[in-house]
Amino acid sequence: MTRPRPVIAIDGPAGVGKSTTARTLARRLGYTLVDTGALYRGVALAARDRGISWDDEAAVMAVSNEIRLGFVSQGDGTPRLLVDGQDRADEIRTPELSAGASQVSAYPGVRRALLDIQRDLGREGGVVLEGRDIGTVVFPDAEVKLFLTASAEERARRRVKDLQDRGMTADYHEILAKIRSRDDADSTRAIAPLRPAEDAVILDSTSLDLEAVVQHVLELVESCN
Ligand code: DC
Repeated sequence: MTRPRPVIAIDGPAGVGKSTTARTLARRLGYTLVDTGALYRGVALAARDRGISWDDEAAVMAVSNEIRLGFVSQGDGTPRLLVDGQDRADEIRTPELSAGASQVSAYPGVRRALLDIQRDLGREGGVVLEGRDIGTVVFPDAEVKLFLTASAEERARRRVKDLQDRGMTADYHEILAKIRSRDDADSTRAIAPLRPAEDAVILDSTSLDLEAVVQHVLELVESCN
């Protein structure tokens, strides 16, 4: 069955600019934006709420089956995560929850629990989903598949600038080490590791600005119409 409007899958490592790219595209096209990483963060947060250790695979999996996850769209179209109907979007953006999400995302039971939610959110098309396995597992039939890359050093530089722009202090070497360790965990896990789909367009954004990346994807969208 063909969808009237495409599913756009954007995958790639942490800090590569997936969120900004996906948000800009969704706004320009009038599509829904789905931040799938927020779902893994939501599972990690819900486990912590219940005093469950992220090392306890069976208990974390039970949590992922128990909770209701969803999004509510903010005025500018940014999705805010709801866990059991509560807005938890601000709590999931800490370095601790980044590490927790990476850990719980390696559990097959958690990935299974989140698969149907992601498919339901994208089923109708007219949606931009960003994550790690959208083009390979969640929507292998996505009409547009982009795999964004950039060197770890460039991603660390961007993260430092982003934090500084928001008035925070940031240590480049610490951030680079964290990016490398998350890359390693996300791409070496046994299930749904981070890798481009065979039919994905791979775009190295190390020396491209946001507008160039967005234009590239808009052309891909045009060509599938
Ligand atoms: O995109 P993010 O940083 O919010 O993602 C948090 C973690 O969730 C990340 O370390 C890997 C995992 N993740 C995943 O395994 N599959 C996805 N589709 C999205 C995120």
